Amino acid sequence: MKYTWRSPSNIALVKYWGKHGIQLPNNSSISFTLSNAYSETSVAFEPKADDGKLAIEFLFEGSKNEAFQKRIEKFLSSIISHFPFLTSVKLHIESTNSFPHSTGIASSASAMSALALGLCSIEKELTGALANNDDFMRKASIISRLGSGSACRSVYPHLAIWGENPGVANSSNDYAIPYTEAASIFTTFHDSILIVSSDEKKVSSTAGHELMHSNIFADTRYKQANNNTVEIIKALQSGDLEKFGLIAEEEALTLHALMMTSNPSYILLQPESLQLIALIRSFRESTKLPVYFTIDAGPNIHLLYPHSIFNEVQDLIKNELSKCCENGKVIEDQVGIGATLMNA
Ligand code: PMV
Repeated sequence: MKYTWRSPSNIALVKYWGKHGIQLPNNSSISFTLSNAYSETSVAFEPKADDGKLAIEFLFEGSKNEAFQKRIEKFLSSIISHFPFLTSVKLHIESTNSFPHSTGIASSASAMSALALGLCSIEKELTGALANNDDFMRKASIISRLGSGSACRSVYPHLAIWGENPGVANSSNDYAIPYTEAASIFTTFHDSILIVSSDEKKVSSTAGHELMHSNIFADTRYKQANNNTVEIIKALQSGDLEKFGLIAEEEALTLHALMMTSNPSYILLQPESLQLIALIRSFRESTKLPVYFTIDAGPNIHLLYPHSIFNEVQDLIKNELSKCCENGKVIEDQVGIGATLMNA
């Protein structure tokens, strides 16, 4: 029996940066679920004698990959208590990405969530648990989180919130919840990713989270993020594009300010990242069109805008922004429907 899940990447609007315990966030975050950047992972299983050990065969893009295999083995060993069946089956896992490795798009959120969903499907089949869809998605989100924190937000359509916040009903540090109250304009939003550099990051996210423990702005930052989560939800609900965009930009720049004020300090933005920010802001100023940006833990700039101004923004990209990109590279994405089971 085999289950194949397609699960997308996500882009945070309010950023998760700083954690404790086993991948528990120090503040709440909210993200758009994307569409074009996804992983597709099939998990096939056959019974074996339970010898307390894992038996895993893993193929990435059709070939064996030692580094990824080790990472998956380590991850699966860490979640045996969540899936006791793991030591009584032989697993054959195959994974592919819709985007090539090292394009400047992080693959851990899509890869970890696709794998987590496959494991939940097996648990459902073997034990009859998780028959309720909400329970299924919640467990998939928990397991995704254990694989790679922000991956827990990838499983839901359109928007997801992760992290306990007194202002957000049912929010939890353990898993993300879907956010379903956004005005419809946000469910077709675009994210054009302006690739400034596709190089591997100099400082990993793991190291970045760790440095938050000694960042003197940490406490203020966690308060700001919790407050921004509540405020951006209001903007999403009412369709207030300006408020939405200004919070998204503040969050992106705060994330990078936290990196600059870490000890040791580091900078992931490149000169072209700043040029792009200036061009986007001046375009917004002169045209009054609602084009905003966000930035992940890297130099690439994500342009966020509603579908209604797609043509105007594509002209801006072609005529001005692509000049600041590595080989003119731009990856088009948009808000998507979340994870899908490709076979059953
Ligand atoms: O999930 P991680 O550990 O790769 O951290 C992701 C952190 C950011 O992408 C910068 C922000 C976020 O909330 O996704």
